[in-house]
Amino acid sequence: MSTHNVWTHKGTFLLAAVGSAVGLGNLWRFPYLAGENGGGAFILIYGLTIFAVGIPILIAETMLGRASRQSPIMGMRHLTKTHDTSRAWETIGWLGAVSAFLILSFYSVIAGWAIHYTWQMLTGSLAGADAETIGAGFDALLASPGLLTLYHTLFIIASGLIVGLGIHRGIENSLRIMMPALFAILLVVLAYGIANGDFAAAASFLFTFNIADLSLEGWLEAMGQSFFTLSLGMGAIMAYGAYMSGEASLTRTAFAIAVVDTAVAMIAGLAIFSLVFGAGLDAGQGPGLMFVTLPLAFAEMPFGALIGGVFFILVLGAAISSSISLIEPVAAYLVERFDLTRPQAVTLMVVASWTLGLLTVVSFNLWAEGTIFHALFGRSAFGFIELLTNIFMPLGGLMIALFAGWALTHSEVMKEMRTSEGWFATWRFLVRFVAPAAVAFVFLRSIPQIEGYLIPTIGALVIVGAFAAGRTFLADASREQ
Ligand code: TRP
Repeated sequence: MSTHNVWTHKGTFLLAAVGSAVGLGNLWRFPYLAGENGGGAFILIYGLTIFAVGIPILIAETMLGRASRQSPIMGMRHLTKTHDTSRAWETIGWLGAVSAFLILSFYSVIAGWAIHYTWQMLTGSLAGADAETIGAGFDALLASPGLLTLYHTLFIIASGLIVGLGIHRGIENSLRIMMPALFAILLVVLAYGIANGDFAAAASFLFTFNIADLSLEGWLEAMGQSFFTLSLGMGAIMAYGAYMSGEASLTRTAFAIAVVDTAVAMIAGLAIFSLVFGAGLDAGQGPGLMFVTLPLAFAEMPFGALIGGVFFILVLGAAISSSISLIEPVAAYLVERFDLTRPQAVTLMVVASWTLGLLTVVSFNLWAEGTIFHALFGRSAFGFIELLTNIFMPLGGLMIALFAGWALTHSEVMKEMRTSEGWFATWRFLVRFVAPAAVAFVFLRSIPQIEGYLIPTIGALVIVGAFAAGRTFLADASREQ
């Protein structure tokens, strides 16, 4: 094993992890979820989960990466050997790599839409357009396999080029320019929203503490979102953690990531809803909020085309800084395991994920219905791939929490965490009990979405998995703590 790379600066891990965490989840998913589920009440649950579940797992995942200094798969293999635990924990690495591959395939297609809208905004094609025209434009984009494939290709190539250039020349350098620029753009859009829109309505929509609107479903959404937004359980954070300086504090860094990520989500929510309400529109949800409602708001406002274009560049940048963290864990594995060069490894990952992404492309048009995926699983190929990742992500997070909480001993953890006994005890309680319970809770949420042949398939997997996990777990939990 060659000596592993480390980020050039002590703070680069923070920058890279924020780049991974801040994405479509902050700019688009958080605002509408919060608005729909009781505003302040939702945000309270979201904040509690970030603190009690998100941060402890974030610390655990970073710790596993830094302790192993390898890609998630090789890293977990290494840790199970050096810490003399069951080989089965290597599943954490595999789950991460597979999820990263699956997510990249559709993340790239959806992020590609932002290329289309950046172009449309900056060329002024949407200026003054009415709701019908903009809605029809979005439908036409989705109906075109050619256009979707073009944008998907452009986006994934851009991401691949950055990772292919290496962690210093590619990832670090691009993030060092991109992240500050993204924050600046976000503030410009917020200022524009305050000047031209209805900030008071946005603030009341997001923050009015309306406990009656917070259903059980809303609770689960809040918890699922706090997980998704921190990029947990997919190997991305572990892969970046492998390059983290040994001197940086795990705890302080994790808190900083969570605070910045949450701040971005809140600012984006305020900016977006100021514009939407200012234009007299309803807070739409789903893809429509970002790709129909918001373009419409920009279409009606002074300099809307310019600010709108800049806004979609922000979306694009946030998506790229996330997608590179999806390529890294798999590319690093291919380099370590098969001795490929980095460009070869990245090409392999990107070409494979691009090909799988074609299934997402046709899920919006040619294969929108009547396929084998609909017959077997009651959803499109895209819906199926997304569902798989919704299952793998909490599963990965759960295993990370269990491994760090139960399989590693006090001294093994302290070597990385170097913290007070009090905080150690709190952290350990959270990863041992609170996080697994919360993840199980989020997991239950996907069950009503599961139909058809998925029930016996997943049922069988869960039984086999629980059996294997139970044995592994009991054996490792009985190590000297
Ligand atoms: N955190 C990203 C967002 O908020 C989405 C995401 C989830 C992600 N898991 C990831 C991005 C893993 C990169 C890697 O949009």
